[in-house]
Amino acid sequence: MTEAEHVNIDAMEGWVRTHDCGALRRGHIGQEVILMGWVNHRRDLGHLIFIDLRDREGITQVVLDPQEAEAVHARARVLRNEWVLAVKGTVAPRLEGQENPGMPTGDIELKAARIKILNVTETPPFQVDGAVDAAETLRMKYRYLELRRPEPFGNLRKRHQIASGIRRYLDQEGFVEVETPFLTKSTPEGARDYLVPSRVNKGMFYALPQSPQLFKQLLMISGFDRYYQLVRCFRDEDLRADRQPEFTQVDLEMSFVDEARVMAVFEGMMHTLFQDILGKEVSLPIPRLTYKEAMEGFGTDRPDLRFGMTLTDITPIAGDSDFKVFREVIRSGGVVKAIRVRGGADAYSRKGLDGLAEGVTQAGGKGLAWVKRTQSGWQSSLTKFFTEEAQSALNRQMDAQPGDLVLMVADQPHIADPALGNLRIRVAREQDMIPRDQYAFVWITEFPLVEYDPDEGRLVAVHHPFTAPLREDLPLLDQHPEQVRARSYDLVLNGSEIGGGSIRIHTLATQQKIFKTLGIPLEQAESKFGFLLEALRYGAPPHGGMALGLDRLVAMMTGVDSIREIIAFPKTTRGTCPLTEAPSAVSETQLKELGLKLTKAARPH
Ligand code: AMO
Ligand code: AMP
Repeated sequence: MTEAEHVNIDAMEGWVRTHDCGALRRGHIGQEVILMGWVNHRRDLGHLIFIDLRDREGITQVVLDPQEAEAVHARARVLRNEWVLAVKGTVAPRLEGQENPGMPTGDIELKAARIKILNVTETPPFQVDGAVDAAETLRMKYRYLELRRPEPFGNLRKRHQIASGIRRYLDQEGFVEVETPFLTKSTPEGARDYLVPSRVNKGMFYALPQSPQLFKQLLMISGFDRYYQLVRCFRDEDLRADRQPEFTQVDLEMSFVDEARVMAVFEGMMHTLFQDILGKEVSLPIPRLTYKEAMEGFGTDRPDLRFGMTLTDITPIAGDSDFKVFREVIRSGGVVKAIRVRGGADAYSRKGLDGLAEGVTQAGGKGLAWVKRTQSGWQSSLTKFFTEEAQSALNRQMDAQPGDLVLMVADQPHIADPALGNLRIRVAREQDMIPRDQYAFVWITEFPLVEYDPDEGRLVAVHHPFTAPLREDLPLLDQHPEQVRARSYDLVLNGSEIGGGSIRIHTLATQQKIFKTLGIPLEQAESKFGFLLEALRYGAPPHGGMALGLDRLVAMMTGVDSIREIIAFPKTTRGTCPLTEAPSAVSETQLKELGLKLTKAARPH
């Protein structure tokens, strides 16, 4: 018989599955059941054949005993991994000592009376059970086989549970999910747009939305009051482990609110989700740091609060020393910042410290100074530059005990802080100081409204140009726009930005003024966002909102390293899909219909 002859079209022939492959326990012993699934593994012991049958819920051991059913036993000889089977049999206890406590079904086995082959398979490109070992592009090309493993399915099921939990919560809070267009106009979230050519309007393009920002603001003007959407967003940007060209936001907008109200909705959401999905208590309110505090204390606007080692300003003590580097930096308006590594004196050799210093120079710093506090005093090239009192003062300020290491960077704050912030993370990782299984949320507020973009040669919005400035900073708008703070907030979890939002500008005059500050000429603002400016003329309520990066949140809640793991069909870091081979060339006819002509590269097929 050829393999294909094992199977016929109506393979099921009235067989009805009674349980899944993760369901059977001692309590089912004696019952006759029917399981269906894939051959995970087959062990042929000659007299007995064992098959591990797998479906999305788990694995059940099937035993084929010639004494019980000779024909079935003979048939089982031909079975190969990943064949699709239906097995009818009786649940039996495993022989004493043969139980497998590592498996939920490990106390029982299924004694097969009949086996039906539902389908055969070619040899898979990798062993499904051990897919982790295969090269990533191969796994992505055969993503459907990789997903057959219980673990990726479990992650995607958790994603589903998180999404349903969010919907339930927002439903209770009176939010209404509204869909907004994908074929639309550019929204400025800081990335490049994906463009879609229009056939009917040749030479014109839609942009896929980088977010539904403008539509949700329009819905507030419509009086929808509380909107949300689990929505795909599209951004053409350089990809990393936590970025995909298409990703999902939990996008939300509310009317007649201030920052506190929007933040409270997300705090409640996080509390409910972590309780329901992970059984963990998020203590509320979530702590807040202003952007300034975050930069000064952690050197980043997305601080990881699972561990301490905060950045300390030691400028006054350093300025009293005779160390030329410190004195010069301070004279030119710079600062000296430091972190204390508990027990770091032994952990970092000369070579280790050189490695850390290299990290600082890569981050744009000029160098790294260090002090090891030992039982007998300082061990450092700086010792001679500090008086005994200054040494004690520094020890005290840094709480440096014998055995500790103090790392110092002197520079302008915008260099010293991030450089030391990077070092803080690196040292914490190297010294295994980051507790696993802990979730540290923090809000970052009062971001600058605008910043200078050297590429564009003008000021750009830090969040987006619809974010309202802090009222008390408004007088600064004309003379010192870069000092104006925004009514924006980011939600950070374990050092990753999982969401961001703001209170919006809801009056035409302010919106026009901000465009002017950003150096966007009126005509350009009209052509890009004219519809929003128009809508602001018709009674916009005060409103604000936020968007949560669902992929990032799910990745953190499932404990995977990359958001690719919790997306069913993700793209590579080059934005390609090895499975469908997208993006791909298109035919001459299609190009012609769209009125497009390629200059080079992609050759039409
Ligand atoms: P923002 O641009 O900050 O805000 O996006 C919100 C959140 O979306 C996630 N995110 C991403 N996740 C995966 N891949 C990407 N390429 C990617 N880009 C962003 C991040 C981020 O915090 N319209 C505003 C929100 C608002 O103001 O209401 C917006 O889109 O977790
Ligand atoms: P130098 O005097 O340049 O040989 O530097 C002496 C030590 O100070 C070296 O360990 C340098 O890495 C360190 N150093 C130099 N510049 C800085 C700086 N801006 N901040 C902190 N340490 C520095």
